[in-house]
Amino acid sequence: MSSLDLTWLECAACGTVYSEDRPRNRCEECDSPLFTKYDYDLLGRLVHRADLQHRRTGLSRFQEVLPCSTSTLNEVSLGEGATPLTPVSRLAGRLGLRRLWIKDEGLNPTGTFKARGACVSLARLKELGVERAVLSSSGNAAAAWGAYSRRAGIEVRTVIPAASLESNRKELAACSSHVTVVDSFPEEAGPIVAELIEDGWFDARTLHEPYRLEGKKTMGYEMAESLGWSFPDVVVFPTGGGMSIVAIYKAWQELLALGWLTSETLPRLVCVQYEGCAPLNRAFEQGQSQHDPWSQPSVPPGGLMAPDPSAGALVLRLIRESEGVTTTVDVSEAERYLGVFARDEGIFTCFPAAAAVAGLAKLRESGAIADTESVVVMNTGAGIKYSSSLEIDADEELRIIQNNDLRKETG
Ligand SMILES: Cc1ncc(COP(=O)(O)O)c(C=O)c1O
Ligand SMILES: [Zn+2]
Repeated sequence: MSSLDLTWLECAACGTVYSEDRPRNRCEECDSPLFTKYDYDLLGRLVHRADLQHRRTGLSRFQEVLPCSTSTLNEVSLGEGATPLTPVSRLAGRLGLRRLWIKDEGLNPTGTFKARGACVSLARLKELGVERAVLSSSGNAAAAWGAYSRRAGIEVRTVIPAASLESNRKELAACSSHVTVVDSFPEEAGPIVAELIEDGWFDARTLHEPYRLEGKKTMGYEMAESLGWSFPDVVVFPTGGGMSIVAIYKAWQELLALGWLTSETLPRLVCVQYEGCAPLNRAFEQGQSQHDPWSQPSVPPGGLMAPDPSAGALVLRLIRESEGVTTTVDVSEAERYLGVFARDEGIFTCFPAAAAVAGLAKLRESGAIADTESVVVMNTGAGIKYSSSLEIDADEELRIIQNNDLRKETG
């Protein structure tokens, strides 16, 4: 079955519908993001969740609700997805929870969940004949796009901050991927990307193309499947731009629309940000529907540097609709939980996930998350990618080095 006949693009704001047969960016009527839609009624009648039992693991497992063909996906694939939902009972006991899992995205190629979005988007762009694409990223997405661009045979240029992970820079160098490093991010990245788009490069920035969200949403499908086609009560996200929240929520809504899962309620969405860059937490606490950009952000490298999240209003709406909550943590709390998690469970998480666990601990303490609730924490990346930004002092205390200027190190 060709999924393409059953697939179209729809503007998130004004609802204008577009065909999915050519590369598209944003709505031509109102410049809002486009989302991929499928004929869920028909697909739900044709495909049942039991059919998945006989399929291989990986993203193609969800082929009917992906924008690219399985054969192109397999050509571009590096084995992403199918990450475990690992029960973490010692950590659960420490936090006074009965059921706690970690969705371990650190096991993806290039070490983060960004692999899913890069794989699906580049597979679809390849099918659509795109030859050159550009994006700016705090680093992990750039590294994923650098790797998958080689698989897809598409030239990709990225713009990343100097205060990014050394591993990202080295991954990009290894792939001979063209990267521009800027001191002031995202301010200096904007004009560089805009000039390339003007020159005909495809705009692959977050929410400027509809395809990568489709890759990321597979996390939501997998989570439900791992729980025997059910939802947890709460999912805790380390949140930067908020696209992982948007993507997973889309998956859950699709699961209901397909009839693969019936549930009255969707999980509560919990957003954790660093105190040094928390525009969504501030807006949530002040009851605002739109955030104000955060001035002078300060966060450790590797994911949560998003002073002006592009999907801010949507993320705030989803958190409220799901009766979720937001919180902030400081870097020392994240450092503490990085060590606690590793010692309790043997999982070396990325800094953002350590912040998420610290946030979960805070919300348990305040009672915002009850001991009876089943909780999933997203480990969005592998701790080993962050090693060069981590110091261990004589007492074996961990210290995250803030905003390391990698150019000094790699000179
Ligand atoms: C490891 C890691 N965790 C979390 C995030 C934040 O994800 P989102 O932008 O979807 O909120 C990022 C984004 O760069 C990341 O690289
Ligand atoms: Zn529109």
